[in-house]
Amino acid sequence: MHPLYFPYIKKFRMPSIGLALVLLISLVSLTGSCTQQERGSLHQFLAGLSQDCGLAVSWRSDANCCTWEGITCNQDRKVTDVSLASRGLEGPISSFLGNLTSLLRLNLSHNSLSGGLPLELVSSNNIIVLDVSFNRLKGGLSELPSSTSALPLQVLNISSNLFTGRIPSTTWEAMKSLAVLNASTNSFTGQIPTTPCVSGTSFAVLELSFNQLSGNIPSGFSNCSILKLLSVSYNNLSGTIPDELFSVTSLEHLSLPSNRLEGALDGINRLTNLVTLHLGWNELSGNIPNSIGELKRLEELHLEHNNMSGELPPALSSCTNLITMDLKSNYFSGELSKVNFSSLQSLKKIDLLFNNFIGNIPESIYSCSKLTALRLSRNHFHGQLSEKIGNLKSLSFLSLAGLSLTNITGTLQILGSSRSLTTLPTGRNFMNETMPEDDSIDGFENLQVLSIRDCSLAGTIPDWLSKLANLRILELENNQLTGPIPDWMSSLNLLFYLDISNNSFTGQIPAALMEMPMLKSDKTAPKVFFELPAYYSTPFIQYLKPSDCRKVLNLGINNFTGVIPEEIGQLQGLLSLNLSSNKLFGEIPQPICALTNLQVLDLSNNHFTGTIPATLNNLHFLSELNISNNDLEGLIPTMGQLSTFPDSSFDGNPKLCGPVIVNHCGSAEAGPESIISREQIGSKIIFAIAFGAFFGVGVLYDQIVLARYFG
Ligand SMILES: *[C@@H]1O[C@H](CO)[C@@H](O)[C@H](O)[C@H]1NC(C)=O
Ligand SMILES: *[C@@H]1O[C@H](CO)[C@@H](O)[C@H](O)[C@H]1NC(C)=O
Ligand SMILES: *[C@@H]1O[C@H](CO)[C@@H](O)[C@H](O)[C@H]1NC(C)=O
Ligand SMILES: *[C@@H]1O[C@H](CO)[C@@H](O)[C@H](O)[C@H]1NC(C)=O
Ligand SMILES: *[C@@H]1O[C@H](CO)[C@@H](O)[C@H](O)[C@H]1NC(C)=O
Ligand SMILES: *[C@@H]1O[C@H](CO)[C@@H](O)[C@H](O)[C@H]1NC(C)=O
Ligand SMILES: *[C@@H]1O[C@H](CO)[C@@H](O)[C@H](O)[C@H]1NC(C)=O
Ligand SMILES: *[C@@H]1O[C@H](CO)[C@@H](O)[C@H](O)[C@H]1NC(C)=O
Ligand SMILES: *[C@@H]1O[C@H](CO)[C@@H](O)[C@H](O)[C@H]1NC(C)=O
Repeated sequence: MHPLYFPYIKKFRMPSIGLALVLLISLVSLTGSCTQQERGSLHQFLAGLSQDCGLAVSWRSDANCCTWEGITCNQDRKVTDVSLASRGLEGPISSFLGNLTSLLRLNLSHNSLSGGLPLELVSSNNIIVLDVSFNRLKGGLSELPSSTSALPLQVLNISSNLFTGRIPSTTWEAMKSLAVLNASTNSFTGQIPTTPCVSGTSFAVLELSFNQLSGNIPSGFSNCSILKLLSVSYNNLSGTIPDELFSVTSLEHLSLPSNRLEGALDGINRLTNLVTLHLGWNELSGNIPNSIGELKRLEELHLEHNNMSGELPPALSSCTNLITMDLKSNYFSGELSKVNFSSLQSLKKIDLLFNNFIGNIPESIYSCSKLTALRLSRNHFHGQLSEKIGNLKSLSFLSLAGLSLTNITGTLQILGSSRSLTTLPTGRNFMNETMPEDDSIDGFENLQVLSIRDCSLAGTIPDWLSKLANLRILELENNQLTGPIPDWMSSLNLLFYLDISNNSFTGQIPAALMEMPMLKSDKTAPKVFFELPAYYSTPFIQYLKPSDCRKVLNLGINNFTGVIPEEIGQLQGLLSLNLSSNKLFGEIPQPICALTNLQVLDLSNNHFTGTIPATLNNLHFLSELNISNNDLEGLIPTMGQLSTFPDSSFDGNPKLCGPVIVNHCGSAEAGPESIISREQIGSKIIFAIAFGAFFGVGVLYDQIVLARYFG
């Protein structure tokens, strides 16, 4: 080694060790070991839990609590953050956490913590963010003594718990810094508190949705000078919206849907900073005031399911940032063309379902090029659809049901070129016209849902439908279509819902139907995404969720003849098979018992003969059975699933007998299939009871869903 280098190294060795030491010391003081008392408080919290999902093990590994999972300390080795969201914790929250005198943020959300919320935490002199949402905390919020000095708490999230009682008013008096109170999804009762606004000047967010708050909206809101968000949806609020609320000009989001609010919206124009307005599902009346045009920032306007009426004000076209306009289920009337849609270039969704609009569909709507969903159904528009609808390049959901439109050929020619169209309900139009056969109907390559029901259309199932490779749901019921079901039906690879009932189709049930890929597969149906909620109308207006889409084949009320093909057993995905009111004959084929997902089976009003296959008892999900008005004979199985159906399921089969039906049986008539061993009987009864209990409600709901109507 060259002598010159040695002193160089020597010179720098000592300082480098010193540097390391300094670094080490500063590191220790940064992450530093926590004090005994801090550690003790955390251990007390741990000890209070009934389930910690391994947290104790993880915390025991080190004496320095500043390095523990979920714990953060400051330079003084004091705990500032406890972040234990989604950690599987159970049991009560220990009030010892209140002993962490430097704790700023406590996040225990998404656990299964129970018991009350310790007063020590709510009234802490250091905590600024307290999030205990998504737990099972219960009881009321305690009143703080009015002498409590100003508290630093800024964010309190107690949503999604089991809290009850009134929201105390004095608690907020001490919370001078409170900015966010989120108490949604609990069972709070009483009035909306407005004291947070009186006490502090920083109060910005009040979220109280999904509680049982009642009474009027209090007038105290005029003190909320910087309130940005007020959400009290899904409560029992009543009365009118007080004028004082309209003076909270800082409001950007006002959300009060699903209450019983009444009265008119006059004064809403004062909320000039509004971005979202949700007032649906109330009992509001009156019209939309022309002054709504002053809400230049408005993006979401939801007034659905109210009792509002009158014409839409022309000034609505001044709300140029509007993205969603949901006015369905009201009594709005007059000509829609009063509004110049040309200036509403941000519009993506317009829902006008169930109103009394008249006149033509305004041309200006066709200039809203961002439109993805347009529902005009159930109004009194008339005339024909304009070719300009082709301008709406993003339009995916177009509902025209019940508009008394004419010219089905023209309409389908125009819409076929809408490349983005996925959902097209056009029922109750084109009365007594003829289903277009011609090849001029083209396009629809992305169509998933097509409903041309209730039109009394003549004609046959047209060949152009065979090109709709993405079709999932096809409704053609309640027309006067004739002819056979074409063989190409099985080439629609995604079709899982086919209702052609109440037409005049003839011929045999074609083998092609037994090859429908989606009905053969018991994989879940492909998701159908509805831009707007699809609805079905009986007995209440309800919304169809994509997950409600069931695999259904309804050929009822037609002139089909012949026997049910044995291949029916292949359609293992089916939840509902309806062959009622045709001219089918022969025996009920045994393979039907392979349709183990079946919930509804209707074979009524045909000419079926022979005995009821006892193996129908394999259909454990079957909740609705109708084989009435046939020529069946023999014994109705007295055990298992079949014995749970009422007489009416079997009525009108004079040769059928059994205890549930008036006809009692001679022993000679008992077929061999009906002899079931005692053990089988026992287990089947238990099975039936269990299913009754578990699926009774669900299945009932499903039946309503199956009676859907894509509006
Ligand atoms: C810690 O908190 C508990 C319960 O709130 C209290 O009883 C105890 O006196 C406190 N301990 C200390 C050292 O502050
Ligand atoms: C608490 O933690 C959850 C999960 O990480 C997070 O979503 C939530 O925003 C946190 N709460 C606050 C107030 O930051
Ligand atoms: C609780 O509410 C606060 C304030 O609104 C929010 O920041 C936080 O993300 C919420 N917590 C969860 C788990 O959503
Ligand atoms: C309130 O908390 C819930 C979680 O329970 C969260 O989804 C919601 O966004 C919060 N609301 C506000 C306004 O912060
Ligand atoms: C709804 O408005 C109509 C008039 O448009 C009125 O007759 C009816 O009583 C109102 N219903 C409710 C619940 O307010
Ligand atoms: C509608 O608005 C557009 C653009 O904002 C304007 O060009 C047009 O003249 C208006 N039409 C009527 C009838 O006012
Ligand atoms: C139907 O519409 C098409 C296309 O717009 C048009 O060519 C045809 O003349 C219309 N037919 C009737 C009977 O109005
Ligand atoms: C069958 O359709 C006709 C109209 O074509 C309708 O009047 C009748 O009510 C429908 N029957 C059933 C059972 O839906
Ligand atoms: C079978 O379809 C017919 C015609 O749509 C309908 O009237 C009947 O209620 C359906 N049966 C069941 C059980 O849903």
